[in-house]
Amino acid sequence: MMRELFRRRYLDLLGSIYIYNEHRGYTAIDRVLEAVRLRWPDDHAFIARIERHRADEFKHYRMFRRWFELRGVMPLAVDRTCGHIDRFVGIMFGSAIDDLDPSTIVRRDDLFERLCRVISLTEKRGHRQVEILLRHPVVNSDSRLMKIFRIIEQDEPSHWAPYDDWLTAHARRTTSWWERTIDRFIHGELLMLKLPALFLNPQLGRRTTWPDEHDPVARCEGARLAVAS
Ligand SMILES: [Fe+2]
Ligand SMILES: [Fe+2]
Repeated sequence: MMRELFRRRYLDLLGSIYIYNEHRGYTAIDRVLEAVRLRWPDDHAFIARIERHRADEFKHYRMFRRWFELRGVMPLAVDRTCGHIDRFVGIMFGSAIDDLDPSTIVRRDDLFERLCRVISLTEKRGHRQVEILLRHPVVNSDSRLMKIFRIIEQDEPSHWAPYDDWLTAHARRTTSWWERTIDRFIHGELLMLKLPALFLNPQLGRRTTWPDEHDPVARCEGARLAVAS
């Protein structure tokens, strides 16, 4: 009984942190895309690779949403303190992702290359984490979740490649030891401090809406539907 409660809580929390991060992933890439289209409108190959990355993260998001729908519960209301990329961008740029202005980033090459390194490290971290989860007994007990993580494991390497290739092609340095240290710190903090705290927090409620219901496009479509009806 205790064991089953523990298992359910663990999976709920894991799925909630993942759906948050996948959603944050594709919405953050939209900002990167905006910046790249402004700065290098003719670099169709680079733009296409980022678009594929965006499509993948959206696909991951949809898989977790489906997983929750089949469980019959909404995700737990975890916030951006559980977002790896949120914390990383916060530390590296001193501001939230949504406050980063794409037109500022593209005017400054040093900011854009920093962003490439942050994305690359985040994706590599994600890949290593999925490999750990695929060996985790609680995750192993959920065949649908295993299927999702196997797909993510396959997809991830193509996610960091465009940014690493951009850095190489423009003769920019790749990640430094201190950037890797920050990445490790954020991950450790999430695993050792935030996850246990959320696990034990009885106040942690569930979301009442799906994250994608708040996307700008979804809002526009909603508005169009409202006008049409
Ligand atoms: Fe993903
Ligand atoms: Fe990814």
